[in-house]
Amino acid sequence: MTDTTFSAYRSELLGRDEPPPCSTDGAALEESARRIMAPGPFGYVAGGAGSGATVRANREAFDRHRIVPRMLRGAHKRELGVRLFGVPLPAPVVLAPIGVQTLVHPDGELAVARAAASVGLPMTVSTTASYPLEQVAAAAAGPRWFQLYWPDDDEVCLSLLDRARRSGYATLVVTADNWAFGWRTTDLDLGYAPAADGLGSANALADPVFRRRLARPPEQDRPAAVARWAAMFTGTDRDWDQLAWLRRQWAGTLLLKGVLHADDARQAVAAGVDGVVVSNHGGRQVDGAVAALDALPAVAAAVGDRATVLFDSGIRTGADMVKALCLGADAVCVGRPYLYGLAHGGEPGVRHVLRSLLADLDLTMALSGVRAIDELRPGLLRPR
Ligand SMILES: Cc1cc2nc3c(=O)[nH]c(=O)nc-3n(C[C@H](O)[C@H](O)[C@H](O)COP(=O)(O)O)c2cc1C
Repeated sequence: MTDTTFSAYRSELLGRDEPPPCSTDGAALEESARRIMAPGPFGYVAGGAGSGATVRANREAFDRHRIVPRMLRGAHKRELGVRLFGVPLPAPVVLAPIGVQTLVHPDGELAVARAAASVGLPMTVSTTASYPLEQVAAAAAGPRWFQLYWPDDDEVCLSLLDRARRSGYATLVVTADNWAFGWRTTDLDLGYAPAADGLGSANALADPVFRRRLARPPEQDRPAAVARWAAMFTGTDRDWDQLAWLRRQWAGTLLLKGVLHADDARQAVAAGVDGVVVSNHGGRQVDGAVAALDALPAVAAAVGDRATVLFDSGIRTGADMVKALCLGADAVCVGRPYLYGLAHGGEPGVRHVLRSLLADLDLTMALSGVRAIDELRPGLLRPR
């Protein structure tokens, strides 16, 4: 056991000369982001599908579980480090894929990559990133994951995978739940469509196979290229046989993101994935969908030790991470909070949010009498 250093950030903050870029309370970031962001980008990031029922359900689910701290367990010595897919990480925390990050800050994914690498956490770079995956890879030397919105053109798909592999992305996260955009009322009411404006097309426009599909190069006819790309990665649902095909194309770690049902988790394992991400896309796809946290225990039970279970949708604090890890997640993914950090302060803003979350996780474990991640079990929780 080693003394963990995450909670040292507490002393740094208390001894500081200047205020931090944004709150240390991950749950408060949305409100402060609302004050500094333009309505379109803010609505795009914060908004969910339909009436927002699932966005709310994600948070309410965390509130229904309470931690029962244990005492006198020697928890001043803790180890948050884990091995995830053979890679040592300082904590079981990953940055969830978020597209078009220049919407909130001009440095976008480049700043996030640097911040993630500086704390040693993997960043998942979206297919719809604002910068090509090679440029994000070159920005920082941290662990790299690539998220795939699955193009309906196999050669374009294989080209993206090849580029990701050559740029050192070890894990491929295939997102299953976004083959069509949800009924996102905030964007619809504002008429706000960053994808249609081509903001998330950098990976496609830089792709040699995609470019060959175009009548004219994107530099000459950008609207046509953007429209072709949008049609290529949305509109086609997939089946389990195709997932098995994708498995054969990717030698690295493969995860399926967007799993909420135990049967889907079993099918994913049968198709050969290394893990599933329990997620409802942060409530952005099916209004009224089950809270991701409520879906987690059954998926974890179905998967058992045959694959790794990751979780996202609603994580805002260290206590939220503890709860998801207790309920069966091997690791958790942070979504909107780091993007709000980016909006507030670029790379230092993202680093501040990540360090705050890790310190909060560390202290929540310490004061709950938990010395290591594998001690996080359902017995630490009580339903409210
Ligand atoms: C603005 C925004 C963009 C997103 N873009 C992607 C994406 O490109 N690919 C993907 O798989 N998920 C995407 N997601 C979903 C996240 O990966 C994650 O599932 C979600 O943010 C988790 O919910 P939370 O932010 O409430 O914690 C996006 C989410 C947001 C808020």
